[in-house]
Amino acid sequence: MLNGKKVFLIISGGISAYKSLDLIRRLREQGADVRCCLTENAQQFVTPLSVSALSQNPVFRDQFELSNEAGINHIELSRTSDILVVAPATADVMAKMAAGIADQLATTLLLATDKPVLIAPAMNVRMWQHAATQANLATLTARGISTVGPNEGPMACNEFGPGRMAEVAEIVAAIDAALSPARPLAGRRALVTSGPTVEPIDPVRFIANRSSGKQGHAIAAALAALGAEVTLVSGPSVQPDPAGVTVRHVETAREMLAACKAALPADVAVCAAAVADWGVKTPAAQKIKKVAGGAPPAIELCANPDILAELSAASPARPRLVVGFAAETENLTAHAREKLARKGCDWIVANDVSPETGTFGGDANQVHLITADACDSWPALDKREVAARLAIRIAEVLS
Ligand code: C5P
Repeated sequence: MLNGKKVFLIISGGISAYKSLDLIRRLREQGADVRCCLTENAQQFVTPLSVSALSQNPVFRDQFELSNEAGINHIELSRTSDILVVAPATADVMAKMAAGIADQLATTLLLATDKPVLIAPAMNVRMWQHAATQANLATLTARGISTVGPNEGPMACNEFGPGRMAEVAEIVAAIDAALSPARPLAGRRALVTSGPTVEPIDPVRFIANRSSGKQGHAIAAALAALGAEVTLVSGPSVQPDPAGVTVRHVETAREMLAACKAALPADVAVCAAAVADWGVKTPAAQKIKKVAGGAPPAIELCANPDILAELSAASPARPRLVVGFAAETENLTAHAREKLARKGCDWIVANDVSPETGTFGGDANQVHLITADACDSWPALDKREVAARLAIRIAEVLS
């Protein structure tokens, strides 16, 4: 039940805006106080009169009409509700949210708010699948914005696929969940490593690898969403820092190890980083010059510390649960089991990173969770879903 909860509903301009009228009705049935804001485009699909009649509240539309009202401005308006819900959320409004554009009242409220935000995307299947929309979604998710839907099915534009706005009952349930999130990891500390490490050869060249940091960053965000106090130690990555997570940016494996040790004690450590096995023994102080006709320089490598093994070693500071990753291209589970024993960690998340899987840099991951006595194979999932499942499994052990 949403008794007494203040829901601020932003309706943007999509054909499924008609379902938002039913959403208002359902939210009021559950005891919520509903205030609504229509984007300029939304007013082509639903009228302020019906929205106002159903919500029993005045409807907000114009950024500037507010400045005439004493004591109320858009900052205040964005913060006096318990949650902001964007339903439907069009590709356009998602892009504006991701870019921080405040070109009208609805987008200004979304930029100014400090309250939880839930979006219910709805758009044509190609718009949903477009790389731009998916990148915007990833940015919004990394910032802690929750999403419900879209669902798959026949669409108003006669195409079929994901893009239909979630059903009203699903949106109500998502609002309920967002307002009373389960926080089984409250009071627990988590350490997560993510991304590649880069090992300098000289001031301009380095050895690195293809890790994007998507999986590690998603795990940090998922643990934080369950209430953990998370430190994310990340090598160079284009992933945005997840909301509500302390992020330590490092470059080399040695820096990563030092940052991990500084983040202890922790209840759980998840080592998702692709740490370089070797660093350059003595990086050149100046750029190595190419000499005409000269031999290529010999680069002497040295072994890097194994962060996972060090965190797993018996010590008073050892986290209660240490989780490693095994990126393999063949004999996946056999290699992963061997790694579990060799590194001394408690679990291994094994994934196939053969080029044809698209795991490196891609959004999907198909993993096996290997523990001392079991191997749990998960279907191919979005990396955020893998992270959410892993966080739940961790919470089952720690809470
Ligand atoms: O030995 P391998 O690199 O395959 O092991 C992968 C696991 O070990 C990952 O969890 C990775 O984060 C961790 N690792 C580490 N430090 C290293 C090498 C790997 O923490 N130097």
